[in-house]
Amino acid sequence: MQFTLNNGLVIPAVGFGTYKASGEAMSLAVDAGYRYFDTAEFYGNEGMLGEVLRKSGLRREDYMIASKVWKEHLGYSATLEAFSRTLEALGTNYIDVYLIHWPRPDLVREDWRELDRETWRAMEELYSAGKIRALGLSNFLPNHAENIIEVCRVMPAIAQLEFHAGHMQACAVRYYRERKIQVQAWSPIGRGRVLGDELIRELAAKYGVSPVQVCLAFCLAEGVMSLPKASSRERLRENLEALSLRLEGEDVMCLENMPPLGWSGEHPDRERVKIV
Ligand SMILES: NC(=O)c1ccc[n+]([C@@H]2O[C@H](COP(=O)([O-])OP(=O)(O)OC[C@H]3O[C@@H](n4cnc5c(N)ncnc54)[C@H](OP(=O)(O)O)[C@@H]3O)[C@@H](O)[C@H]2O)c1
Repeated sequence: MQFTLNNGLVIPAVGFGTYKASGEAMSLAVDAGYRYFDTAEFYGNEGMLGEVLRKSGLRREDYMIASKVWKEHLGYSATLEAFSRTLEALGTNYIDVYLIHWPRPDLVREDWRELDRETWRAMEELYSAGKIRALGLSNFLPNHAENIIEVCRVMPAIAQLEFHAGHMQACAVRYYRERKIQVQAWSPIGRGRVLGDELIRELAAKYGVSPVQVCLAFCLAEGVMSLPKASSRERLRENLEALSLRLEGEDVMCLENMPPLGWSGEHPDRERVKIV
């Protein structure tokens, strides 16, 4: 299964999330059949990912890399510099998807709107020069995205958000859907916190699948690309196999309307919320 972005680029419906992933897990992900890899300057693993992909024997056009400019490098020149460090670390001459990681450097900087627009201007130039195939936003809520959309020449194609059953950010997802911006789920299985939930376990038993597969199939049912991170061959395969699971409409409705199930506590306009 695939999604077609608003600029025509086709991306897989499930990608491999590399945050805190080992080189071994990255290699296993390649072997398991993942062809979209989500990294970021902040993860400090672009070099490792680049090496794994180069050694995989795959042709560059056979896989996609997404990376993100970190919030301390917002602004026109800082973004161009960050992008060239990312290219160098990955050992590639283009990136498939490049996102702004967070909309604000911190909560006290008043000039984040200007910074985001300047960052976007640099990304648009890189896009026009063929160095990036699709541009996107990460952790941008509608109030942050509007600031870009009002002035952009290239529409964002992707919006990455924390998204899982029990934490859907429905208003933000609707906003992006209405603008034909593809939503991507980070923490699609809530870093495991959703797996003990009664409804999710009930549905797993009903379909004869794992609770993780229910969560990933739920993303697909919502038209959301997911980026699960996993470390073993078995889990990597299990997560990809969720692509063939179709949940019934009534079950999707139950998942959409389940009580909140917790979240990371990371909100772009708030101090990090302490999760107990
Ligand atoms: N844009 C952002 O700000 C942002 C923030 C966070 C994450 N992300 C992206 O989203 C990706 C995924 O998010 P995440 O790593 O926070 O959370 P996640 O994918 O929801 O959860 C990962 C956790 O679930 C476990 N797991 C994976 N498959 C499993 C399975 N089949 N059965 C049981 N447990 C399983 C993993 O364990 P093992 O690894 O031990 O197998 C790991 O502990 C990241 O890697 C990153 O690429 C982006």
